[in-house]
Amino acid sequence: MKTYLVTGGAGFIGSNFIHYMIKKYDDIFIVNLDKLTYSGNLNNLKDIEKGSRYAFVKGDITDSELVKSLFEIYPIDYVVNFAAESHVDRSIDNPTEFINTNIVGTFVLLESAKSAWLKGEKWEEGKKFIQISTDEVYGSLGETGYFSETTPLDPRSPYSASKSSADLLVKSYFDTYRMPINITRCSNNYGPYQFPEKLIPLMINNCLTGKCLPVYGDGKNVRDWIYVEDHCRAIDLVVNKGRVGEVYNIGGGNERTNIDIVKTIIATLRMLLEENDVRKAFISEEKIKFVKDRKGHDRRYAIDSTKISNELGWKPVTSFDEGMKKTVKWYLDNSKWLEEITSGSYKDYYVKMYADREKEEAV
Ligand code: NAD
Ligand code: DAU
Repeated sequence: MKTYLVTGGAGFIGSNFIHYMIKKYDDIFIVNLDKLTYSGNLNNLKDIEKGSRYAFVKGDITDSELVKSLFEIYPIDYVVNFAAESHVDRSIDNPTEFINTNIVGTFVLLESAKSAWLKGEKWEEGKKFIQISTDEVYGSLGETGYFSETTPLDPRSPYSASKSSADLLVKSYFDTYRMPINITRCSNNYGPYQFPEKLIPLMINNCLTGKCLPVYGDGKNVRDWIYVEDHCRAIDLVVNKGRVGEVYNIGGGNERTNIDIVKTIIATLRMLLEENDVRKAFISEEKIKFVKDRKGHDRRYAIDSTKISNELGWKPVTSFDEGMKKTVKWYLDNSKWLEEITSGSYKDYYVKMYADREKEEAV
C-alpha cells in the first residue's frame, strides 16, 4: 500500500488525478490537502469522498505545523504537489498569494518531507517528491521551435516566475540533499472540472449564457492543448517510473491559436445542443470580441515530449477533436456544477477582470 499526499486535489487537475489514481489502483491511499480557495471545490470529488482509500484535509500548504503533522499521522511515500494559485491574469492583478502558496508553500512541503524521510545521511527507500510545474517557466516561443527540458527558464508573469522559483527550490533539494524528486512541466490542460476563469470553460460558459466572447489581442497566441486525463497518466508514470532528479516535459501536441479554440467551441456547442434548444440562437461567431491584450502575453507555447515518450513510453492518446467533444459535453451535462460556481463571487471576478478590458477593444 503506497500513501500519496496530493496537495490541491480539489482543483481541476488534482481532482482529475485523484479520480484517475483511485480508479486505476486499489492498493493506494490518498491524503488530499487543499485550502479550498476559490478554485478548490469538493463537488469535484463527490463520488470519491465516501471511499476508504481517501482522506480529505482542509488546510494550507504554507502551514508547516499542519503539514508536519500529516507526515506524522500518515506513512507518506509520495508528495504530488498540485496546490497553487494557477491563473496568470490573477497573478498580474495581485501576485501576493502566488508568492505565498507557490513558493513558500512548496518550500514548506519540501522541508516537511525532508524531516520525515531523511534518516541521518540516508533517505528512506521508496519516497519521492513530485512537483507539478508548467511549460510557462520556459517563457515564450516565436513561430518555430519547442520547449525541451534543457530550455533555459525565462518566466514572464508573476505566476510563471513563482512556479519557476518553486522548481528551483525543488531542484536545489535534489542537488544539495539528494532528495528524491521529479519535476513535470505540462502544457495547457482542458477537460472536466476546470474553473471557468480559464479560456475553454470561460468561453463555454459565456456561449451558454449569451455573453460576448472576449479574445485577448489579435487572438493569434498559440497554446499546446492536452486533455487532462493524458496529463494524469503521465504524472502516474513519472511518480512510479521517473528517474530520480529528472524533469519531464508533457505536451499534447495540439498547437492551436486562441481564436481557433473559440471557433471550435462555438461549432462543438452548436453540434451537441438539441435543435430546439433556445441557446443555439445566440451561440455564434458574432459574439467574438477582440479585447485589450493581457500584459506581457506570451505568444506561443509548444512542448517537445520526446524525453517522457522515450524513457517512460508515454504519449497523449486523446485527439483534440475527441477531447473537445468530451469536454463540451461534460459542461453541458454538469450545468449545475457550472451554475454553482458562476453564481457566486465569480460574478465580481468577471466584472473586475473584463469590464475595462471589454471597453478597450484591441486595435
Ligand atoms: P486550480 O486552480 O484548478 O487548483 C488549485 C488547487 O490548489 C485548488 O484546489 C486550491 O484550493 C488549491 N490551493 C491553492 N492554494 C493552496 C494552499 N495554499 N494550500 C493548499 N491548497 C491550495 O489549478 P490547476 O489548473 O488544477 O493546476 C494544478 C497545478 O498544475 C498547478 O500547480 C499548476 O501550476 C499546474 N499546471 C496547470 C496547468 C493547466 O493548464 N491548468 C498546466 C500545467 C501545470
Ligand atoms: O501552459 C500551462 C498553463 O496554462 C498553466 O501553467 C496555467 O496554470 C494555466 O492557467 C494555463 O495558462 P494560460 O495563461 O495559457 O491559460 P488561460 O486559459 O488563462 O489562457 C489561454 C490563452 O487564452 C492565453 O493566450 C490567454 C487567452 N485568453 C484567456 C482568457 C481567460 C483569452 O483570449 N481570453 C480569455 O478570456
